[in-house]
Amino acid sequence: MSSFWNFYIFALTLACLGGIVALIILTRRMPDPGGADAETTGHSFDGIEEYNNPMPKWWLNMFWLTIIFGLGYMIAMPVGNWPGVLGWTSVGELTEDQIEHDRKYGEIYERLASIPVEDLPDNRQAMRIGQRLFEDNCALCHGQAGTGSYGFPNLTDDDWLYGGSGETIKTTLLSGRRGQMPAWGDALGDQGIRAVTEYVMDLSGQDDVDQALASRGEALYNASCAACHGQDGTGNQALGAPNLTDDTWLYRIPGETLRQSVETTLENGRAGNMPAWEGILGEERVHILSGYVYSLSN
Ligand code: HEC
Ligand code: HEC
Repeated sequence: MSSFWNFYIFALTLACLGGIVALIILTRRMPDPGGADAETTGHSFDGIEEYNNPMPKWWLNMFWLTIIFGLGYMIAMPVGNWPGVLGWTSVGELTEDQIEHDRKYGEIYERLASIPVEDLPDNRQAMRIGQRLFEDNCALCHGQAGTGSYGFPNLTDDDWLYGGSGETIKTTLLSGRRGQMPAWGDALGDQGIRAVTEYVMDLSGQDDVDQALASRGEALYNASCAACHGQDGTGNQALGAPNLTDDTWLYRIPGETLRQSVETTLENGRAGNMPAWEGILGEERVHILSGYVYSLSN
């Protein structure tokens, strides 16, 4: 801002104040008769006349005080380029607040950082902070209560893609996770997909399984799927390959049968993406949040 506007604002304000002071002094000099035979202003409303009395003293003094306050404020506080004699700035105030905030929460975070993730659920303060962080950052995908939905894992059951120990959860949150399930449509063809889907139905204990089809699928499974999901289908947490035997599904498409959902998964593949939080929330908050996630299923 050029200093012209500084000058402009100061000149305008001073001119206003000067005008007000002049007005007060002028009206003071008016005749001050008082009493019952006072002069009137000549105004008359339905026979009621208006006396020409001076303003009460206390009122006048208030006026003087506000003018003095106004002048003082103008000198003390910043206007445009004028920094004000007190040197107050909104940025400075914010910085001070932040330092105060960091000092207060820094102590709390530091104390909680020394508690192992799996013991944090016993700490009421950690759970309160954790819940707030969860609602602000995670509820969008995992749901307010952490129960998940299509494509977003339920964090309240004891079924883990990557593992449910305190340290594993913390690793998941710090670095994020990217599940990579290849697409099988081209490699297996429609017949192959149908057969291996039937075998997955059998693995997960569904009761309407076509056994002949499933046993054809088993050979395909052993050749193509066992490397990640395990020979027995119980999955591999190092890869995030889900357990296919527990009848808990990450990709159960709403409104479709389980068979259709699994076929879609096999046909097109899947790539669930859990963002990394270390850069966003910092290690100390992630630590507390890990304790909160741990508490959801324990
Ligand atoms: C943009 C959506 C999204 C957000 C936001 C998100 N997640 Fe996730 N999260 C996912 C997806 C998708 C997966 C599954 C990844 C996969 O399929 O491999 C996942 C996986 C996880 C897992 C692993 C579960 C398991 O079974 O091993 C944990 C724990 C988790 N999220 C916690 C959190 C927490 C805590 C937050 C908040 C800081 C959060 N997530 C925010 C999408 C999200
Ligand atoms: C390279 C390792 C890998 C191979 C090979 C693989 N998968 Fe997967 N599969 C995964 C991963 C990882 C996921 C989880 C994807 C995600 O989190 O988005 C997954 C997910 C699935 C799901 C979804 C489970 C659910 O809960 O919704 C099914 C079903 C599945 N795989 C079956 C198969 C079958 C059948 C084969 C063989 C034709 C196969 N997979 C081969 C890694 C693999």
